[in-house]
Amino acid sequence: MAQRPYIVGNWKMHGTRAMLSEARAIDRAAERLLKAEVALAPPFTLIHATRHEAGLIGVGAQDCHIAEGGAHTGDISAAMIKDAGGSFVIVGHSERRADHGESDAVVKAKADAALAVGLAVIVCVGETEAQRDAGTHEAVVAAQIEGSLPLGDAVVDKVTVAYEPVWAIGTGRTPTVDDVAAMHRSIRAKLVEIYGPAGGQVRILYGGSVNAGNAAELLAADEVGGALVGGASLTAEKFLGIIAAAA
Ligand code: G3P
Repeated sequence: MAQRPYIVGNWKMHGTRAMLSEARAIDRAAERLLKAEVALAPPFTLIHATRHEAGLIGVGAQDCHIAEGGAHTGDISAAMIKDAGGSFVIVGHSERRADHGESDAVVKAKADAALAVGLAVIVCVGETEAQRDAGTHEAVVAAQIEGSLPLGDAVVDKVTVAYEPVWAIGTGRTPTVDDVAAMHRSIRAKLVEIYGPAGGQVRILYGGSVNAGNAAELLAADEVGGALVGGASLTAEKFLGIIAAAA
């Protein structure tokens, strides 16, 4: 049986306790949630409260440190995320790669740290506009996958890949459905190369300007197993529109 689409909201650096009502409303739309697996990644400060307010959906973090603990002022470990009620971590988002200089090796170390405490990981990859224009996008993403993904048969079922073309994030622009499908097929081939047949089961999410209007066709594209949603996950109304379209 085909997996339910996995729809994950990445709240980025948005959200105070006032936004917990949105998480609650998303959680309570249980009838629609049955058709998709739904999760939210609020800021660290809201993980515990979101877990408490929203009992049906997954709750996770947007980043973690590579170390188990220690003298790392301002950082958060995977174990702390788990302790706060998180069940997954997004690693390698392009905003972290760009704003914090995270290399593939760092992203992989973060994924390994998360897996070590039993969290699942969503590993983000995606090309810049210049790379797409130069026609190197598939090679760029294949290299990111090779360098960023945790390895081993034991972890494969805890890994999700999110393909987010950098130029589509927060811009209102999306690749064509054919381009999304082509990239997702290429990612699938790479996953099978890395993990063997188990790589055929790894979910590949599309992210970048997903909204209620374009979700159905993007989610129907070949090898698209769900969506990683930024702006349109910030209100229950918009996010539930995407979930409804996923069904
Ligand atoms: O991680 C989600 C993301 O980067 C896409 O953001 O606002 O284009 O949906 P947005």
